[in-house]
Amino acid sequence: MAAQEEAQKTGETAEVHVDGQVLTLPVSRGTEGDKAIGVSKLRSETGFITLDPGYANTGACSSAITFIDGEKGILRYRGYPIAELAEGSSFLESAWLLINGELPSQTELSSFVDEVTQHTMLHENYRRFFDALPKSAHPMPVCAAAVGALATFYPEPENEQNIRDAVVRLIAKMPTIAAYAYKHSIGQPFVYPQNDLDYSSNFLRMMFSTPCAPYTADPVVARILDQLFILHADHEQNCSTSTVRLVGSSMANLFASISAGISALWGSLHGGANQKVVEMLEAIDQGGGDPMAYLARAKDPNDPTRLMGFGHRVYKNYDPRASFLKDACKTVLERLDISDNLLTIAQDLEEITLADDYFVKRKLYPNVDFYSGVIYRALGIPVDAFTVMFAIGRLPGWIAQWLEMRNDPAFRIGRPRQVYTGATERSYVPLAAR
Ligand code: CMC
Repeated sequence: MAAQEEAQKTGETAEVHVDGQVLTLPVSRGTEGDKAIGVSKLRSETGFITLDPGYANTGACSSAITFIDGEKGILRYRGYPIAELAEGSSFLESAWLLINGELPSQTELSSFVDEVTQHTMLHENYRRFFDALPKSAHPMPVCAAAVGALATFYPEPENEQNIRDAVVRLIAKMPTIAAYAYKHSIGQPFVYPQNDLDYSSNFLRMMFSTPCAPYTADPVVARILDQLFILHADHEQNCSTSTVRLVGSSMANLFASISAGISALWGSLHGGANQKVVEMLEAIDQGGGDPMAYLARAKDPNDPTRLMGFGHRVYKNYDPRASFLKDACKTVLERLDISDNLLTIAQDLEEITLADDYFVKRKLYPNVDFYSGVIYRALGIPVDAFTVMFAIGRLPGWIAQWLEMRNDPAFRIGRPRQVYTGATERSYVPLAAR
């Protein structure tokens, strides 16, 4: 696994003037010019901490995995532009790249693909595990629980070989877990993986075949799913990835850390937005197809409604993944000969917002979740399983970030500070006296 490179200390400094004291702090720069002020001595030297709700100005680590320039709409894994990877790479090759830092040789890739393929089955006891959960359960907590439970099936001590095995097991078993969660929810028998199929075709078959009706994935559709997984594979220090790092920083094992990441991804402001986008488009469709009323609510500061699939903490330009997905969406619908009103509504909505002052002023553009839902819908993926697709895709990124954190010479348990605003000291009043 690749060692982490630290941000370069430049010799530049920044000064903090506080309480009549001047503190000189070191400045570092990343390989793409990211600038950071090192505040690790701030509290011990001045007693002050930094306060940054939502961590919008806080770097928690140096990382050599993914680069994003949100102003320019750039996303690269290990230096490779996302569009080049989506065009030319496969999901498993990109996973290897993220985890190991370099593109694999032919031999490395085929042995990685072989290994992943050999570990796709789940322990038979998982049948009882799924049976214990309600049929109506949302698949995201089901997946989080099932991935966490892998720690009970593989309780090996942490060493390099066991961690490597855990990496392979996770990537191999995640589609099986996702498909089992779906089959459980609709009351159909589980379909075992078929190891002569590629990663995405195998997943689609486990989702859609039954003992009485075989299913063969259309190779064009399977390739688009593979590309979707590549587009989701990493996105530097987002909410779920930071969760994986924070949980892993306590020395919790890889399965437990990834399970926490899946839970963080479920929220509607993060990965859960892809489900919310389609629900929003359906609501607009059912209301006659005119998005203006919905838009007015999203712009009203007194209404909590947001335009789902729009806006991003980092991108202040078109999300490069959304541009790719917009085209992929058309390809899938044409290939499957589907005409979907939701695509038309999505395109109208995009056109209106890109010309609307509210969105222009705040630099709110479509994000990765805006068009992906329309594609999943065309593939027959149920709406509440959309975020599971995101989780399958994001898995290599979570793994790469967890490994990088564990190998970081600057590694420390994650433990933010706070500014306490509660009651000052007071004496306990016995119950009888209250
Ligand atoms: N619809 C309407 N207004 C918005 C939206 C939106 N989707 N997003 C941001 N704004 C407004 C927000 O009200 C605020 O306005 P004002 O300055 O007048 O108070 C301004 O834009 C800045 O918003 P913010 O909440 O400070 O931005 P943030 O960086 O904290 O939040 C976000 C980023 C992605 C959570 C947010 O844009 C959002 O809620 N989007 C909708 C949910 C969504 O699509 N999430 C998927 C994100 S991409 C995939 C992923 O990472 O999982």
